[in-house]
Amino acid sequence: MGKSNSPPSPGHYDINYVHFQKALYAQIRIEAFGEDIGQNSWHTAEEQDRFLKWLEISVGKTLLDVACGAGGPVLRIAAITGCSVVGIDVHEQAIRAAISLAAERGLAGRADFRTADATGSLLFSDASFDAITCIDAINHFPNRPQILAEWTRLLKPGGRLLFTDPITVSGPLSNAEMTVRTSAGFYLLVPHGYDERVVRDCGLRLLVCEDVTANMANIAEARRAARASRSASLRPIEGDRAYDDEQEFLTVAARVAREGRLSRFVYVATKTGGV
Ligand SMILES: C[S@@+](CC[C@H](N)C(=O)[O-])C[C@H]1O[C@@H](n2cnc3c(N)ncnc32)[C@H](O)[C@@H]1O
Repeated sequence: MGKSNSPPSPGHYDINYVHFQKALYAQIRIEAFGEDIGQNSWHTAEEQDRFLKWLEISVGKTLLDVACGAGGPVLRIAAITGCSVVGIDVHEQAIRAAISLAAERGLAGRADFRTADATGSLLFSDASFDAITCIDAINHFPNRPQILAEWTRLLKPGGRLLFTDPITVSGPLSNAEMTVRTSAGFYLLVPHGYDERVVRDCGLRLLVCEDVTANMANIAEARRAARASRSASLRPIEGDRAYDDEQEFLTVAARVAREGRLSRFVYVATKTGGV
């Protein structure tokens, strides 16, 4: 019994969130992502600009970002569109970083960040949100049909859901690759087609399903290289073991993505009816 029922551990994220606001880690993000929007994923500013048109979000609307990490991506949405945002993440240090980033960007009045486990019922009323996003985190939740049912409950009729699944199985994987690629707490790997099915089973209408694996391969490789060129500074901060593990994770993540064996998809769906 046990493991699959225990709460997901975000342990591996500690390195990035504990040091998130240090200049060294910001430099790594700039080099890896081109623009540091405060992300801890495979998401870039260019990609978010493309995703934004699908969200139909604007002033007066409210967006929930599930597993928001340090909040950078959702704060950028608030800044560009004028909407209000709520971000939840299980990692306390990530939420602390998000709250301070919101203040730094002058967005504290329109941003509410809370520590919460996204795998259970969320403490929001039905139809609370115009849009829900979840970037590169759904793979950490064990119960996908329940998760999507909960998000459907929280969406207003006509509201938009956008999520990325970064580890869709699309080719052969060795046990060694699986072990390294799934080393940050709980992971659920699903075959391509599963996410679409669950979306439809929840009564949502699927609008977009797009392969965005290339971004993941590029970012993983760029992040590995940016860290490698700073290894002398990173090793004393992280310790040799954690530094090497992170580099191996990024190497494997880049390789299986580049070879199309683990793929990243973005899904956009809308909640129909109800009015
Ligand atoms: C790859 S990061 C993505 C963070 C953010 N979406 C971004 O783009 O920067 C995955 C996030 O999922 C969060 N997470 C993992 N399990 C969770 C859970 N059960 N509830 C809420 N957040 C969780 C981790 O703490 C981490 O911040």
